[in-house]
This record gives sequence, C-alpha cells and structure tokens, in this order.
Amino acid sequence: ASGVPADTLLAHVRDVPDFPEPGIVFKDITGLLVDGEAFAEAVRRLADIVPEGVELIAGMEARGFIVGAALAAHLGIGFVPIRKAGKLPPPTHRASYALEYGEAVLEVREGTVSPGARVLLVDDILATGGTAAAAADLVEQVGAEVVGVTFLLELLGLGGRDRLGGRVVSAVLSVE
Ligand code: PRP
Repeated sequence: ASGVPADTLLAHVRDVPDFPEPGIVFKDITGLLVDGEAFAEAVRRLADIVPEGVELIAGMEARGFIVGAALAAHLGIGFVPIRKAGKLPPPTHRASYALEYGEAVLEVREGTVSPGARVLLVDDILATGGTAAAAADLVEQVGAEVVGVTFLLELLGLGGRDRLGGRVVSAVLSVE
C-alpha cells in the first residue's frame, strides 16, 4: 500500500493520557504494528529516510527493537539490541543517563559493534532525547560512528533534537 498519507499512519497511533504517570500523554504505536499495511508502510518510509552509508542498525529496548529490527531486515543489514541494564550477559559496555527521577543505564554486548562501524540508531519515539543521547554515547564509546538517529515519531517541543546536538536526526511522523 504505497501512498498512504502521513495522517493515515498517525491515525494508528493512540494517545493515552496520564500513562505511565499523571500528566504524561503516552503515544501507543501498537495499532500501527497490528495493521500489516500500516506497519509495512511505516518500514518503507523509515527506509526512505535512512542516511547514506549505514552498515548496522542499533535499536533501543523495547520498541526500538520492533521498528529497528524490521528496518534492518528490510535493508538486509545487521541489527544490534541496545538493552536496559541487567538484561545482557557480561561483558557489556554501559552508558548511564538521567531520568526525571534518578538514572537509567543502557548496555550493549561487547564485540557486537565493531570500531569504525557506521551505525544508525532507530527508535519508535523521540521525546526528550535522553534515551537516544545515551545510546549514541554508547555506540561512540565502542569506537563506532553514529551516522544518524531515526524515529518513527518525533514529539516536537520537548527539545529532543537539541539534546542530540549536531547529529543527523530524522523522523517519519511528527506531532506537537
Ligand atoms: C520510550 C520510547 C523511547 C523513549 C523516548 O521508551 O520507546 O525509547 O521512551 O523518550 P526520551 O526521548 O524522553 O528518552 P520507554 O523508556 O518507555 O521504554 P519501552 O520502549 O521499553 O517501553
């Protein structure tokens, strides 16, 4: 189903007020995944905005696994899971990042990202950019290059792009 308009794709994303906490409007992409045509269209559109020269996709747990792995398979390149702390067996590389309260840690298995590899980070949603910034730090710690950061949906006005500095940031859909 080519030519599906952006608002049709967006119509599959549901707003859930006050989840997971009061005051937060959660963006639920489940409806976009369960509709085969919409999911396929979303993956094609992600493929359309992939920067030149990407050798490997890294996706952030958990929803970045879904869109990142689908995109990697579509492109015929490898996929590396960037996981939340404590999920991967050692040895791992780690990067911590600040949450509203406290901090979180992302990990990647040692040896899965080669130094010098040209990596595209992929996640479903760009909000504050904290997750993506930490993932970028992690990939760079390993000596690989972050050639871009690509999202299905960018939430504008939360400063996510700014937090990612001068990186190449792109998104299929965006909402205020
Ligand atoms: C969501 C989303 C991104 C991140 C975006 O994941 O999938 O990874 O938050 O927010 P940020 O730009 O403010 O960092 P979440 O942490 O809810 O984890 P999940 O995918 O496991 O549900």
